[in-house]
Amino acid sequence: MDSQTFVKELEASNQVQLAKLAGLEPSGGEAPDVEIKQLLQIALVNEINVSELAAAWVPSTPEMDVKIALAQQVGDEATHFSLVESRMHALGILTDGFQPPPGNPLFAYLKSLSTAVERVAGDLFTLESIAYQVNEQFMKYCERLGENDTVKLYQTRIQPDELHHHHLGKALLEKYAVTPEAQQQARQAAAKTLEIAFETRLLMTQKLGTACFPGC
Ligand SMILES: [Fe+2]
Ligand SMILES: [Fe+2]
Repeated sequence: MDSQTFVKELEASNQVQLAKLAGLEPSGGEAPDVEIKQLLQIALVNEINVSELAAAWVPSTPEMDVKIALAQQVGDEATHFSLVESRMHALGILTDGFQPPPGNPLFAYLKSLSTAVERVAGDLFTLESIAYQVNEQFMKYCERLGENDTVKLYQTRIQPDELHHHHLGKALLEKYAVTPEAQQQARQAAAKTLEIAFETRLLMTQKLGTACFPGC
């Protein structure tokens, strides 16, 4: 199959799984007041995790355009971290001594990917589309909380970058997923990323009492 058709098909099958992710709900009903502090802390964790993931891949990705896309992502996600941190400070939330919790299965899986096609499919193409979708849900939740400055931050700074990362992933897959083997690798990386993201977010949803927490 030509790579453009392949990417279209992958996008469509990802959409089916993304719809399941969008339908996640806590089994005991939505908790009335999950604090913005907790949700922004999750954003910090996700932003730094994805920045570190892309950074770890830069030296071991010989394809120059993929290497540069990953390096740009490192910087963008670090900027998102700083923007969210500034927002927390404006709300009077301290971030001194912040450390992301260890042992996230999603990032452990992504780190294990070794080819450019798998990395692009798992991270830029799929993880970033998950981020975009869950951030939209998070923004709606923020609106309900009256957190308008947080909504604006996501609308104007963070979401355009996450969408750009996904589009970069799409263009790079069209360039590199040109053989049946590469397409199979991409399919597998996308499916596994969505599967683990679903499991991880399901657990978090039950723990927090809301599915409206941000991604990266
Ligand atoms: Fe991103
Ligand atoms: Fe981000």
